[in-house]
Amino acid sequence: MEYLAAELRSLQEAKRYRQLKWFDGPQAARTVVDGRPCILLASNNYLGLTEHPAVKNAAVQAVARWGTGAGGSRLVTGNYSLHRELEERIARFKRTQAAIVFNSGYMANLGTISALASPEDAVISDELNHASIIDGCRLGRARVMIYRHKDMTQLENILGQSCSYRRRLVITDGVFSMDGDLAPLPEIVALAKRYRALVMVDDAHATGVFGGRGAGTVEHFNLEGRVGIQMGTLSKALASAGAYVAGESRLIDYLRNRARSIIFSTALPPAAVGAAIAAIDTVEKHPEIRTKLHDNARFLHTGLTRLGFRILAGESQIIPILVGDDAMTIAMSRALFERGVFVTGIRPPSVPPGTSRLRVTVMATHTREDLEQALNAFEGAGKEVGLF
Ligand SMILES: Cc1ncc(COP(=O)(O)O)c(C=O)c1O
Repeated sequence: MEYLAAELRSLQEAKRYRQLKWFDGPQAARTVVDGRPCILLASNNYLGLTEHPAVKNAAVQAVARWGTGAGGSRLVTGNYSLHRELEERIARFKRTQAAIVFNSGYMANLGTISALASPEDAVISDELNHASIIDGCRLGRARVMIYRHKDMTQLENILGQSCSYRRRLVITDGVFSMDGDLAPLPEIVALAKRYRALVMVDDAHATGVFGGRGAGTVEHFNLEGRVGIQMGTLSKALASAGAYVAGESRLIDYLRNRARSIIFSTALPPAAVGAAIAAIDTVEKHPEIRTKLHDNARFLHTGLTRLGFRILAGESQIIPILVGDDAMTIAMSRALFERGVFVTGIRPPSVPPGTSRLRVTVMATHTREDLEQALNAFEGAGKEVGLF
């Protein structure tokens, strides 16, 4: 174990050592972290639905009716009719023929990509795609071709030069998790059609947030019926746990048979399933929650820009402040925490070296007072750390 201690020391020296923060309160606009009350600007609970009475009640009802655990994988015992209800609900929400649920977004990408892409196939992937997409490609051992972030000219070149592969799968995040910008999905879909490739979008950060009904980037860009594989999580705006893939029935049937992360893992517990169904209902019934989220994002983005921070994107509820230096990023996160604002500093390997940042996320449940107080803290922390 001596070598592990040496590894840990070198992480500490490189300012890349990670420590857990303990939450003593819920994922709410104001919570308690490590015993300190603070405004939370780091959660993916974008719509605040983890605290919504209908969603909480659905989780409780699911436990009362079905118990606490699934008792086995979907193909053995862990297959309640509640799981079917969720999958049918997702398919209606996404306007696809069918959907299948996974235990997490990480497992959805691992299981789906490795089931669909083998060594004879090529996966064509944006350089900033989420780690679970990268790991899914590794597991499938397909040839992986990376294009520069949102570079459609390079994507077209790769598509033009990869015709000899049996199948080609173009994969992109819908909203990029660490950059907060949207993929150019209409262009990707058009190119994939021209070069006869399949498109998969990971809408982890768009589900519940983008589109008239909150169904994600495919709805936002009016591309319904034109994206073969739509993946998304139930764990972020939908306030539960797990993930889904939605698409044609034969795709879903194939994944049910071939995705190893479904076959070899115990199914989602009833509470998570019940909460997810109620969250989708809430997203569709209450578009005003989504409107409030986008208003809050605009307000905070404008305020941070006015203060002089360098913001990487202004398109979504994820507002990344570029710091660059790892140590300064952590110092900034600490200075904010001392001022009662919780924001996570993101360093490599989560982002490319030299692009460490504060990943600021807003929630629909933040009040103007919360955001104004946070902006004051940003100003003070930025001055203390020497960011401007
Ligand atoms: C784009 C993207 N895909 C997949 C995941 C994994 O989802 P989960 O947290 O449900 O495993 C995340 C975040 O965690 C993500 O940001």
